[in-house]
Amino acid sequence: MTALVFLDADVSTGRIANAATAQLSVLDQGVTRGDGIFESMLYTKGVVRKIDAHLARLRVSASTCDLILPHEERWRAAISTAVAAFDAATPSDEAVVKLVATRGPEGTSEGTCWVMVSAAAESGRLQRENGVSVMLLDRGYDSRAAERAPWLLMGAKTLSYAVNMAALRHAKKQGVDEVIFTSSDGIVLEGPTSTVLLAHRDGDIKRLITPTLETGILPGTTQGAIFEAARAAGWELGYGPLTPEHLMDADGVWLVSSIRLLAPVNSIDGTTLTLDRELHAELTAMVNNIA
Ligand SMILES: Cc1ncc(COP(=O)(O)O)c(C=O)c1O
Repeated sequence: MTALVFLDADVSTGRIANAATAQLSVLDQGVTRGDGIFESMLYTKGVVRKIDAHLARLRVSASTCDLILPHEERWRAAISTAVAAFDAATPSDEAVVKLVATRGPEGTSEGTCWVMVSAAAESGRLQRENGVSVMLLDRGYDSRAAERAPWLLMGAKTLSYAVNMAALRHAKKQGVDEVIFTSSDGIVLEGPTSTVLLAHRDGDIKRLITPTLETGILPGTTQGAIFEAARAAGWELGYGPLTPEHLMDADGVWLVSSIRLLAPVNSIDGTTLTLDRELHAELTAMVNNIA
C-alpha cells in the first residue's frame, strides 16, 4: 500500500488521496518535462530519518530550479499525515517517504506537491548485507561543467532521473549491480542514486574521503551525517578530487544513500577491492545511529 497526501493550499494537514487511481494532470510539467524536484527519506522505527537535512536540500533544489515551495510546516504536516495513514494500513520495518514538487500544469503558476509513503524495496537491504559490484561509467561532461553551465541544474535533486536509471540498466545488462559515474576528465563523481565514500587506515589514524561537491554532484545527506559522526569519533575527513586509482587503493569503498544506507563496493570493473572489516563495522554503526 502507498499512502499519498497532496499539499493543497486549503488543507493544512494535507489531503489524503488514493495512490491506486489517477491523480495527476497529464499537463503537469513534472510529467511532460521531468520538471520538478524530489527527496527520498527512510522511515523506520517510527522516525523519518534526517528530515531536517532533506527539507533543507529540497529548498536548495527548489531555489536552483526557480520553483516556489509551500512553507516547510506544510511539508512536515503532510509527512505526518502520510506516515500515519501508512502505519494504519501496512506497518513495515522500513518505508520510503518521497516528497515531490513539480512545476505544475502548463499555463498555471501553481506547482503540484505531494508526499508518498511505501514499503522499501528489498534491494537496499540486500546491497547493505552483500555489497555491490560496480562499473565506472563516463557521465559525458567534465568536472568543471557545473560551474560553467548552471542551467544543467547539477547538484539539484531533479525529477530528471531517466539518465541515472539508464546507467543502472546498462550495468545490470552486463551483470553488474551498480555504477559510479566519472567525469570526461577522469574524476570520480557519484552513483546514479548514491554518494561514494572511501576510507584509509594508517595505524591509529582513520580517514574518510568523499568526492568534492565542486564537480556538481548531489550533496548527500547520508554522507553528511556519516561525516558528522566520524568527525565526533576522531576520524580525519577529506574531500576529493578523486580518481579511480584512489578507489582501487582504498581500505574500503562504499555507496551510501538514505534508503540503502551503507553498501560496501566488492569490485570495480571486475577488480576485487579490499574491505577493512573494522572500518566497515564502525561506519555501519554510525549510519545505523543516524536520527
Ligand atoms: C545522484 C545521487 N547522489 C547521491 C545520493 C545520496 O543522497 P542521500 O544520502 O541524501 O540519500 C542520491 C540519493 O538518491 C542521488 O540520487
